[in-house]
Amino acid sequence: MSTVTTQPEQRTAELETRIRQAPERFRVMTGDRPTGALHLGHYFGTLHNRVRLQELGVDVFVIIADYQVLTDRDVAERLTEITEGLLLDYLAIGIDPARSTIFNHSAVPALNQLMLPFLSLVSVAELNRNPTVKDEIAHSRQSAVSGLMFTYPVHQAADILFCKGNLVPVGQDQLPHLEVTRSVARRFNERYGVVFPEPDALLSAAPLLLGTDGTKMSKSRGNSIALGATADETARLIRGAKTDAERHITYEPETRPGVSSLVLLAALCTDRDPHAVAEEIGGGGAAALKRTVTEAVNSRMAPIRARRAEYAQDMGYVRSVLRAGNERANAVADATLAEVRAAMGGVL
Ligand code: TRP
Repeated sequence: MSTVTTQPEQRTAELETRIRQAPERFRVMTGDRPTGALHLGHYFGTLHNRVRLQELGVDVFVIIADYQVLTDRDVAERLTEITEGLLLDYLAIGIDPARSTIFNHSAVPALNQLMLPFLSLVSVAELNRNPTVKDEIAHSRQSAVSGLMFTYPVHQAADILFCKGNLVPVGQDQLPHLEVTRSVARRFNERYGVVFPEPDALLSAAPLLLGTDGTKMSKSRGNSIALGATADETARLIRGAKTDAERHITYEPETRPGVSSLVLLAALCTDRDPHAVAEEIGGGGAAALKRTVTEAVNSRMAPIRARRAEYAQDMGYVRSVLRAGNERANAVADATLAEVRAAMGGVL
């Protein structure tokens, strides 16, 4: 008997091959919390990948995780505005609502109802030792940990399993979350009969882009370049980005994080190797670097921003995309909940 466990990286490589062979066998579940505008870190980290999977023929579900805004803060602010911004971003980058489903948590009651039977399948001790929850609690803005924060990997299991998603694109740090989803699916199937797939992580090597202040680019830290920023805003943000005193530009992420992150951004935007980009700028210093980055970001983003502006002219259409996605998600969630109730004895 083989006791070799497949590493997530190796598993991801296998999955990529299988996706190419039979994309129709996969349903991707992914999404964002509507806590702020999506930025270039999201674009190169995950958004780009969603469109790639959609284009390969995979069925993609994108959740706007509005309930999860409340995991690390007391109130969800500017929810409508941020949600509409996300919709614009998704459409602008090429998520096609005819093929992919965009929906939000709070509009899909049956999804949320799954949380109750799922909570019965996990222990408090298990949630307590989840490293991702620990980390997110450490960064939380709340003085006390809410029950929603504590149980949100289970809520995420409901997000993934309500539509029988079997592929979840994640970064390394999200693997413990997916483990909770896999445990929930496995235990439900063992206890009540097989209803759910055990979803796989599709690891993506998200490039670490720093914000303009030299810390991780983040929706809520005010240090990011939004997808929807104008060319002028982009130029201003990059002009203010943190660099260092050394004139010669190199790509050395460990020792020169600020400069290297800018080099990386230019490289990602132009599909080039960061070392080559750095070498080309060489003795041009921070000013030349910033000019290069601004030019690279603005030309890469120009078509996306133009589409975004076009969609923004027709918010009626943009809202209808979410309404239609919610309708589809509700139909899927109702069907899954009916199956769950039947499996559990038809009384819950
Ligand atoms: N928690 C994810 C985030 O912080 C968003 C999310 C909610 C999600 N539900 C999900 C991602 C299900 C993948 C699968 O961005």
